[in-house]
Amino acid sequence: MANKAFHSLAVLLATASFSHYTSAAPTGTSTAAAPTALLGYNPANVVVNADTDDIQFAFVPGQTDSAVVGAYLDFNNAENPQPIRGTKGGTDPGPRTEEYDKLNPDKLAPPGTDHGSVANAQWPLGLSHAKLGLDRAGWSRQQNVANLPVALAMAGVDMRLEEGGYRELHWHKAAEWSYVLNGSVRVQAVNEKGETFVDDLNAGDEGGVEFLLVFDDGEFSEDNTFLASEIFARNPKEILSKNFKVPLSAWDDIPAGELFIFPGTKAPKDIAEQNIVGSAGLLPIEESYTYHLSKQAPTFDVEGGSIKIIDPTTFPVASEFSAAIVTVKPGAVREIHWHSTSDEWNFFIAGSARIGIYAAANAAQTFDYHAGDTGYIPKAMTHYVENVGKDDVIFIEVLQADHFSEEDISLGQWLGLTPPQIVMDTLNLTNTTVSAFKKEKQYIVTGDVVE
Ligand SMILES: *[C@@H]1O[C@H](CO)[C@@H](O)[C@H](O)[C@H]1NC(C)=O
Ligand SMILES: *[C@@H]1O[C@H](CO)[C@@H](O)[C@H](O)[C@H]1NC(C)=O
Ligand SMILES: *[C@@H]1O[C@H](CO)[C@@H](O)[C@H](O)[C@H]1NC(C)=O
Repeated sequence: MANKAFHSLAVLLATASFSHYTSAAPTGTSTAAAPTALLGYNPANVVVNADTDDIQFAFVPGQTDSAVVGAYLDFNNAENPQPIRGTKGGTDPGPRTEEYDKLNPDKLAPPGTDHGSVANAQWPLGLSHAKLGLDRAGWSRQQNVANLPVALAMAGVDMRLEEGGYRELHWHKAAEWSYVLNGSVRVQAVNEKGETFVDDLNAGDEGGVEFLLVFDDGEFSEDNTFLASEIFARNPKEILSKNFKVPLSAWDDIPAGELFIFPGTKAPKDIAEQNIVGSAGLLPIEESYTYHLSKQAPTFDVEGGSIKIIDPTTFPVASEFSAAIVTVKPGAVREIHWHSTSDEWNFFIAGSARIGIYAAANAAQTFDYHAGDTGYIPKAMTHYVENVGKDDVIFIEVLQADHFSEEDISLGQWLGLTPPQIVMDTLNLTNTTVSAFKKEKQYIVTGDVVE
């Protein structure tokens, strides 16, 4: 196949150079091309195209439709998917890795509405190096500016702790927001007033836990946190002895450095045993570091899916984290919207989706997402999230904002609340079309395309 491909390419090059020499220095052939053939693209030119070259492939539904229709192209079971959309593109004889193309059809054959460039908005944690904990106690994988440069305001980590595993005592400069994906975990904390906190979080019966961490700093790194182990390893034992009023020998067996994730003693079932209280008492309940989101009903439950919002109105301690757990049914779309002051960080828990981002000026690109991928959409850029698979898409939107709904601007609502005449004049739409625009946010719309 590669030889044939090079052959096609050679024919095109030979044609061009042959014409050139023909007009400059006749070689005795009588098939000299007209001089206009030297001037570049002419719609009358016909290249070796998909219908006549030797590359075997099949189009998938929607691929030959007008490119601006831009339907999702499902290449999963396609024979030899090609970078062709409508009348544009051409075959790819290789080299290539077909798996990438099947996972990212909107990169291989973008909708015709894509234009220019938009900063990369997708990072699969499957491409992040795992940081492995000690003695098989767990691991973490992170996304930050090192792998997704546009993500300046937030970074994320997926972390696994086996039963009895610890993420060691630590702190960091960035604020941290967390979501339990699986299993159960006990969280313990002490604040600057000496108030204490301990709670159990559950997302299932599985032993151990997997959770997501989101930080309000794109440069956050798990390699750069303040660790209890290192405080002891990096202070003179003489100072430690004075500080704690214990003999030097007390420090003989302390760890030489970072533990990060390590196996420890299993937490006692009775959480009260770990309820240590000082003179400042327990952390007041309204300042709780945890929120049992699984017990909260969806904020919006619509035909196309549902949204659960958690923001400082219900979880005040996370004063700058507004998040939504969004479920989008197959074919349905989280409507076109944007956020005026905050970037958006995403994590895909289940399903397959695509996000189309419009970024002024005149740039738009579409990115594909699967379970375990992170996403990032800079403020003000419009975006939608379409479920392109057969199962529900479940994903998390995290904003740096103190109120979720006030940070969500719906394109539909904006135009629905604008005098119809203005919308008709601007977009050259009929009165009938404009009258279908709704005055309320839809959040999620069902997957029916009106014919
Ligand atoms: C947790 O993981 C187990 C094992 O993979 C799986 O069977 C279970 O469905 C998961 N639970 C949740 C809540 O995702
Ligand atoms: C749109 O149609 C409605 C009823 O069909 C009419 O009342 C209205 O004036 C029309 N608006 C414009 C801007 O043409
Ligand atoms: C508006 O649409 C009409 C067809 O309904 C077309 O003839 C006209 O050129 C369009 N106007 C602009 C400014 O695109």
